[in-house]
Amino acid sequence: MSEIKTITIIRPDDWHLHVRDGAMLEAVVPSTARQFGRAIIMPNLVPPVTTVDAAVSYRNRILKAVPQGVAFEPLMTAYLTETLDPDELRRGFEAGVFAAVKLYPAGATTNSESGVTDLSIVHAVFEAMQEMGMPLLVHGEVTDPSIDIFDREAVFIERVMIPLLADFPGLKVVFEHVTTSDAVDFVESSGHRIGATITAHHLMINRNALFQGGIRPHMYCLPVAKREKHRLALRRAATSGSEKFFLGTDSAPHPVHAKETACGCAGIFTAPTAIELYAQVFDEEDAMDRLEAFSSQNGPAFYGVAENSDTLSLQRVDQKVPEMMTFADGENIHPFMGGQTIGWSVVSS
Ligand code: DOR
Ligand code: ZN
Repeated sequence: MSEIKTITIIRPDDWHLHVRDGAMLEAVVPSTARQFGRAIIMPNLVPPVTTVDAAVSYRNRILKAVPQGVAFEPLMTAYLTETLDPDELRRGFEAGVFAAVKLYPAGATTNSESGVTDLSIVHAVFEAMQEMGMPLLVHGEVTDPSIDIFDREAVFIERVMIPLLADFPGLKVVFEHVTTSDAVDFVESSGHRIGATITAHHLMINRNALFQGGIRPHMYCLPVAKREKHRLALRRAATSGSEKFFLGTDSAPHPVHAKETACGCAGIFTAPTAIELYAQVFDEEDAMDRLEAFSSQNGPAFYGVAENSDTLSLQRVDQKVPEMMTFADGENIHPFMGGQTIGWSVVSS
């Protein structure tokens, strides 16, 4: 670890975020807006966000939850269903409403039932996106139940990602929340149109965390955390300075009762201290000088948008992560590392 006590970076963005809706949205949006200039908002609501009108009204609900005086821009995405209309997508992209499209293989994760069972069904959508330069954000796991859950990302590369990139050589693709050295190697060896997001929790935990002294539902997310060698590969990639990797928290809040049950939901809620978690990782890797590229520059470069014009400062000051957050309708969410201490804090402006 270095001796650095404070660091000021271009305001970061979160290129992969779940904020849900209703009371939960109102509870979680301020945490993200406090730190990030923009966030790519996942469309896996029920029903999913598939139209320009739905995205505009969802964006308005998010903006209403941003605290007064805070500048925050939600970047909306369309959920790729088998019936998504390429013309609707084109209209939304040209109007600046849709920033990207999210591909969930049907059944891969939370609220993915409306996803795609066979990519050939949506080839017309990919063609339109390729022509417009609209990014495709991919949940990269196969759903084949015969494939071991820890191998689903690696198998996805062979079965889905490589053929997709070959069929659409101009399509911009983000390999979301990579969790394996296989995905890191694949992204590194692919051309500039392929980028990847990395979550804070996948940089911090390996699969042992799910079973430490008992079953730990708050450590369960998809893709599930992998072996230690994979976590180390993710740390190397994030701190390497390579412009292909950028910050995407995949912060995914679920009420405590939906996590602590016989069949708990996938999702780890990191939003309250997201940038501080990444700062801690970069500090441990002695790479604080690369935090800004990963958090604030590589994402805008990939998406072809300007970097934020203001800054965010962090200081080496301990903070205790709250054990629980309660929202308006009385539900509780347990944040990642709740009750524990992290070594960095945002300097409030
Ligand atoms: O752990 C996850 N939670 N992975 C996803 O892909 C979806 C997310 C959610 O929406 O809860
Ligand atoms: Zn996600």
